[in-house]
Amino acid sequence: MQKQKIMILGASYSLVPLIQAARRLGYYTIATSIPGDYPGFSVADESCCCDITKPEEILQAARKYQIDGIATCCMDVGLRSQGYVASMLGLPGPNWEGAQICTDKSRMKQAFQQEKVKTAAYAKVYSRDDLEKVCETLRFPVIIKAVDQMGGRGIARCDTREALLEAYPSTMSATDKDYCIVEEFLTGTMFGVEAMVEQGRPVYFLPVGDELHRKNPFFLMGHWTPCEELRPYRAQIQEQIERVIRAYGVVSSPMNFDMMLLDGEIYVIEATMRAGATCLPELVGLHFGVNYYEMLIRLCMGERVGQYFQRPEGERVPVIVKQLEADAAGIVEAVIPGTAVGGDLVDLSFNIKRGDTVRLMENGRDRIGQVIVKGDTMESCEALLAEVLERIQIKVKVKDEN
Ligand SMILES: Nc1ncnc2c1ncn2[C@@H]1O[C@H](COP(=O)(O)OP(=O)(O)O)[C@@H](O)[C@H]1O
Ligand SMILES: [Mg+2]
Repeated sequence: MQKQKIMILGASYSLVPLIQAARRLGYYTIATSIPGDYPGFSVADESCCCDITKPEEILQAARKYQIDGIATCCMDVGLRSQGYVASMLGLPGPNWEGAQICTDKSRMKQAFQQEKVKTAAYAKVYSRDDLEKVCETLRFPVIIKAVDQMGGRGIARCDTREALLEAYPSTMSATDKDYCIVEEFLTGTMFGVEAMVEQGRPVYFLPVGDELHRKNPFFLMGHWTPCEELRPYRAQIQEQIERVIRAYGVVSSPMNFDMMLLDGEIYVIEATMRAGATCLPELVGLHFGVNYYEMLIRLCMGERVGQYFQRPEGERVPVIVKQLEADAAGIVEAVIPGTAVGGDLVDLSFNIKRGDTVRLMENGRDRIGQVIVKGDTMESCEALLAEVLERIQIKVKVKDEN
């Protein structure tokens, strides 16, 4: 019998585990990306050189290959094409409408309001005049956002009117749209939620603690689960998830949420129809004892996945994942991990080597590696993580300032 075909959108490093999972499950994989020296191309059964940001181009390719499913993960780049192809060919996965909503933060806020998702007050801004008006209608501090970017690009927190006027040009230069949004900055505790939706219902959802890098804007450095502080809010979190599912019209998709706990209330900052990045698939997988990339493949091939998330709470595994940063800018002279991977140290890896240039962390792309630890308790995870971090040595030749 001929293998079923699955098109994977993207071929970069972060897509490799997804391609490998599809192959393990017996599917014929087609890695799709603009041409380049991407590792996914050599892992997949076949390569398709197409621009994954162009939905119509991807649909043509999908028809040509007669695919049975389409998947991506970890980044928004291919999400619109995935939604378009899934909807046009009647395949499981993000719907086109939802994919368009969640890749435009302005449409996202509008959709939230329609379904009464609890979210920060906002305004859509087309001009400096609009911006001046915003200063009268919204309460400072505010946060200005390019609507079509991710990972904090085109986003800045502004405490004053002057700061907002100053941030506006750089937000507009970061976006392909002729508008941006400004929203009230909420000062609660950020956390994330990973979920999978099947037949319009979440088959599981997992709140995760967020470790934020205190740059402007904040970006994610790490996650942990379980998150005891959030236990009392499960019902509220679920209600918000269900509202977002209605707002987007989700039938079958992985989902990732940025949420905030503020004065006992749960707010949705952002919701997207894909698995989160920054090691979230690894964290969810270890916690439930599954390979999460395989779950993503099963879901987009129309298999039921709810059964894989039934592990009783008492048997779920505490996990911490963390991105690593350089503590000095310059040329790397040596990378000494200091601890061997094994046991509860699930991963300690670096994406830098001798001779590379590193800089102090400005955003998520400046990461130099990652650590994943598990344990019987959150305390044992924290202790192991501290020990591992202590032993890492990155020797950097600091560049002369001149
Ligand atoms: N209204 C808000 N109040 C407080 N913090 C916010 C707000 N909106 C965004 N943030 C912070 O900025 C980060 C990035 O914003 P987000 O809308 O999630 O964009 P991105 O697509 O870059 O992740 C969030 O994870 C959160 O830490
Ligand atoms: Mg976000």
